Amino acid sequence: MKTLFKIFAWIAGSIVVLTVVFVLFVYMTWEKKFEADYPNIKSTSDSAVVARGKYLAFGPAHCNTCHIAPDQFENMEAGMDVLLTGGTEMHIGPGIFRPRNLTPDMETGIGKLTDGEIARVMRHSIGADGRIIFPFMPFQNMSDEDMTALISFLRSQKPVKNEIKSTEYSFLGKMVIALGMLKPESATGTPPARVEIGPTVEYGKYLANSVANCVGCHSPRSLTSGEFTGPKFSGGLAMDEGTGYVYVTPNLTPDPETGRIANWTEEAFIERIKNGRLVEGSPMPWANFSWMDDDDLRAIYRYLHSLDPVSNKVEKTVYTVEEYYEK
Ligand code: HEC
Ligand code: HEC
Repeated sequence: MKTLFKIFAWIAGSIVVLTVVFVLFVYMTWEKKFEADYPNIKSTSDSAVVARGKYLAFGPAHCNTCHIAPDQFENMEAGMDVLLTGGTEMHIGPGIFRPRNLTPDMETGIGKLTDGEIARVMRHSIGADGRIIFPFMPFQNMSDEDMTALISFLRSQKPVKNEIKSTEYSFLGKMVIALGMLKPESATGTPPARVEIGPTVEYGKYLANSVANCVGCHSPRSLTSGEFTGPKFSGGLAMDEGTGYVYVTPNLTPDPETGRIANWTEEAFIERIKNGRLVEGSPMPWANFSWMDDDDLRAIYRYLHSLDPVSNKVEKTVYTVEEYYEK
């Protein structure tokens, strides 16, 4: 009996010690600094370049869905121009994330950042101060030309003073960083200097993967590290928005049985996207995508229909929290 007790005490003691060591390790190592070269991007005031940047920011790249003040959300959805002042908070497992002020204010906005620093956020997920940024902005493979356009547009906005508090990580968030589960991102290979615009499979692939992030929501992934855990575009990613509802993305591959758009014509697809949000509260940036050029939507449709079909039945796309977790 005594020896058994000793063994238990030893095991319990070891667990306590290991836990303390682990917690200390996380607190002592999470504030790591990361490095990567600054992309060679130079913004311009050329009006055509700025216009392209605005189209990307409010359309396919949907920067405004995160980088606006909460009271501007309705204006954004109504298609009005909004200033990218930040102010929205995202309360999720790894912490409270605060998209920053992207207006060119010198103190509180991007006025103090160089083109290279802004481009490095987008290409490598490393902040100007060397912090790692969680994978909210999967623009690593965006072309140099489009990155130039976006940064040129950001610099063309009216500067607005709006101090944004830093992101606050929860223990989970710090742990993810300390354990090296988050790494600086990079483009796959050399990022393209420019991509030919047109209603082609190639351009659709670029938009769906490198600009509009269809792939990020419509694929199975780990919600802590962002890693893909199954075939891309096969859907099934569940998003608990903290609003009482859970949204699940449909399968966008052309599988005739389970693919949501497999039996849609190109025209029906364009019309559906232009119609905007039908499922209330859906996290998909419907308003932004509804302003996309027909040719860009055509390109995306053609690309999605060129994918290998994957069978993945997504029964429903919206559940109440109770329904979802009882399932
Ligand atoms: C899904 C939400 C989301 C979208 C979409 C998004 N961002 Fe962000 N962005 C964030 C968050 C969150 C942060 C702050 C991260 C942190 O500090 O940990 C951030 C930070 C930044 C920063 C760093 C600014 C600084 O002061 O360090 C830049 C630059 C930036 N975003 C540019 C963009 C651009 C350009 C777009 C569109 C092409 C975009 N973002 C789209 C969520 C988003
Ligand atoms: C932030 C996450 C997110 C992004 C980014 C996103 N989607 Fe979605 N999508 C969803 C969710 C959630 C649903 C299910 C709810 C709904 O229909 O709005 C959905 C539904 C759809 C549907 C089915 C609509 C219907 O009425 O049956 C299509 C088609 C679609 N998305 C295409 C796209 C395309 C194309 C892109 C990229 C241009 C994209 N999505 C980007 C989350 C996203």
